[in-house]
Amino acid sequence: MKTKLSAENLNISFGEKHVLNNINVAFAEKEITALIGPSGCGKSTLLRSFNRMHDLFPDARINGTLRLEDLDLYSKTVPVTEIRKRIGMVFQKANPFPKSIYENIAYGLKINNLPYGKDVVEKALQEAYLWDEVKNDLKMPATRLSGGQQQRLCIARAVALRPEVILMDEPCSALDPVSTLKIEELIKHLKEKYTIVIVTHNMQQAQRIADKTVFMYLGEVKEEGPTDQIFNNPKNEMTANYISGYFG
Ligand SMILES: Nc1ncnc2c1ncn2[C@@H]1O[C@H](COP(=O)(O)OP(=O)(O)OP(=O)(O)O)[C@@H](O)[C@H]1O
Ligand SMILES: [Mg+2]
Repeated sequence: MKTKLSAENLNISFGEKHVLNNINVAFAEKEITALIGPSGCGKSTLLRSFNRMHDLFPDARINGTLRLEDLDLYSKTVPVTEIRKRIGMVFQKANPFPKSIYENIAYGLKINNLPYGKDVVEKALQEAYLWDEVKNDLKMPATRLSGGQQQRLCIARAVALRPEVILMDEPCSALDPVSTLKIEELIKHLKEKYTIVIVTHNMQQAQRIADKTVFMYLGEVKEEGPTDQIFNNPKNEMTANYISGYFG
C-alpha cells in the first residue's frame, strides 16, 4: 500500500509543554485511518500538524518531517494555502460560513482560484450526500441546516477543492446516531478517492469505518495496525485497556 501522508520523528511542544514525543506514523493512500486514545494524548495536535494549523501559535515548536508523498509540508517554499488545498480538514463542530448553502461551496472555490460554477457546486453537494436535501434551498443560510447537514456541507466544501487527503477531528461527536451513521456512510464512500485520517472517541465508529487504527497515549504512538487486529488482538496492554474502556 502506497504511503500518502507521513510523520517522521515528529516532536511538538507549546512553550515548555512537550505534547508529541517522537511520532512515526504513515497513512496509506485511499484508506481510512482512525486515531484513538484518551483525551489530551495529542490526537488533534498530530492531525493539525499535517495542514500547518500550528503556524498560528508563536510558541509552537515542531521538529521532524511531515510529508505528503514526497512533499515536505514544512518546506519554506510551499505556500500554506497549497497545503490546505491538498489536505482538507473537517472539525468537531460544523463551521459553515455565514452565507448561503450555495455560497459556502462557491466561496471556497473562488478564493482558491478554482472554477465555481453551478455544476461544480452541485457535484460537491452530491459527493457529500447532501444534494437531494438542499437542491431547492440553495439560497438559504447554511446556519439553518441541521447539525448533521451542516457537517455534510463542511465535507462538501472540503471535497469541492479536490483535496488528496481529508483530516477529520471527531466529525460526529456533536451529532445524533442517525446523522452519525449518514456521515460514516459518506466517509466510506469518500475513501474511493481520498485518503482519510479521522480522530474518534467512538470505538464502534473506528471499527465500522477504519481500515487501520493508531492508538496514542501521552503524546506517543503506542500501537498501530489493521483495525481488526487492534480491536480483537491488541499487542500492547495499554491498547487493550483503552479499547475495553478501563480509562480514557
Ligand atoms: N496551542 C496549544 N498551546 C498549548 N498547549 C496545547 C495547544 N494545543 C494543544 N495543547 C496541549 O497538547 C495536549 C494534547 O492536546 P490535543 O488537543 O492534541 O489532545 P487530544 O488527544 O486531541 O484530546 P481530546 O481527545 O480531548 O480532543 C494537551 O495537553 C493540550 O493542552
Ligand atoms: Mg482533540
